[in-house]
Amino acid sequence: MVLGAAGNQGGYVARQGLAAGWTVRAVTRHPEGDQARQLSQCGADVMRGDMADPETLKPIFQGADGIFSVQNFWEGGMHHEISLGMHVLKAAGAAGTPHIVYTSGLGAEHPKNVPAIDGKAFLETLLRQSGLPFTILRPGLFMDDFLGASLPFPRPIQRILSRHRLWVGRWFLATLRAVMAPDHPVPLTTLMDVGNMARWAFEHPQVSSGQTYELIGTAQAVLTLCAQWNALMPQPIPRIPGLAPGLRLAHPQMSALLYWLRNRSWASTSTPLRLQTYEEWLTRIHQTDCRSS
Ligand SMILES: NC(=O)c1ccc[n+]([C@@H]2O[C@H](COP(=O)([O-])OP(=O)(O)OC[C@H]3O[C@@H](n4cnc5c(N)ncnc54)[C@H](OP(=O)(O)O)[C@@H]3O)[C@@H](O)[C@H]2O)c1
Repeated sequence: MVLGAAGNQGGYVARQGLAAGWTVRAVTRHPEGDQARQLSQCGADVMRGDMADPETLKPIFQGADGIFSVQNFWEGGMHHEISLGMHVLKAAGAAGTPHIVYTSGLGAEHPKNVPAIDGKAFLETLLRQSGLPFTILRPGLFMDDFLGASLPFPRPIQRILSRHRLWVGRWFLATLRAVMAPDHPVPLTTLMDVGNMARWAFEHPQVSSGQTYELIGTAQAVLTLCAQWNALMPQPIPRIPGLAPGLRLAHPQMSALLYWLRNRSWASTSTPLRLQTYEEWLTRIHQTDCRSS
């Protein structure tokens, strides 16, 4: 059973589950949406459910072998994220769910006074105390964000940006370069690795249960990330003045998260599945986006 199945992380988990031959219940508030219809065509049972309304979760959770749980901080802020996560835990407890895979985020071992992290830290604690078998995934910054996949913008804006992925990538990396210390490693993960790890966790509960996995496929200095992009992509990353103060004004919570990331030291992690590196991801993007443009 996959919450957020029409979204980024849940979408990868649902597709991994279908590829593995599972019966996938794909939960969404919008079963009529494009993503939900695609999942249905691929064989998922698309079910309407709203994490804000626990009553809708009860019948969906009944009999599920496992639940992939994701809440989007950027949609309603920390308190909303916590409230949705608590409803999921309550419904999972009532249904006696055999295994929850919860996708959290780096830093969520403790609150950090960063709203995008602190709700996840709270939910991790509740999950550990719930007595339910669990696995926690803590992804880093998604490389897919460089192409606009998971940026905190409303859906209509995301749809427009998705038609200009390489342009978004140049701006995103320019912003990252402006905010991060030039030689400080940035911890990166792909959405695909969240899908792969969730599948692995569900398929190996005897190993994954009770475990927390930090998912960092690459931790490289932002200048190295930019240099690799410039070497492969047709247009280089631009120099744009005022990006760091601009982000602080326009998106203080994103700015707070990036400044927190730049103040901790990062290295790639060793996980049961090998994670994709930035170089591998970039090569894949180059092959798809540049050859088709
Ligand atoms: N971007 C990054 O670099 C990064 C890194 C680490 C962690 N994170 C965390 O990842 C989370 C976002 O994950 P994502 O990118 O997978 O988000 P996403 O693409 O927005 O997917 C979340 C899905 O949740 C569903 N949803 C939202 N509210 C719901 C509700 N009340 N009931 C049922 N479903 C609901 C939405 O589906 P419907 O609209 O179809 O209902 C949506 O598709 C955030 O909390 C963020 O902090 C992000």
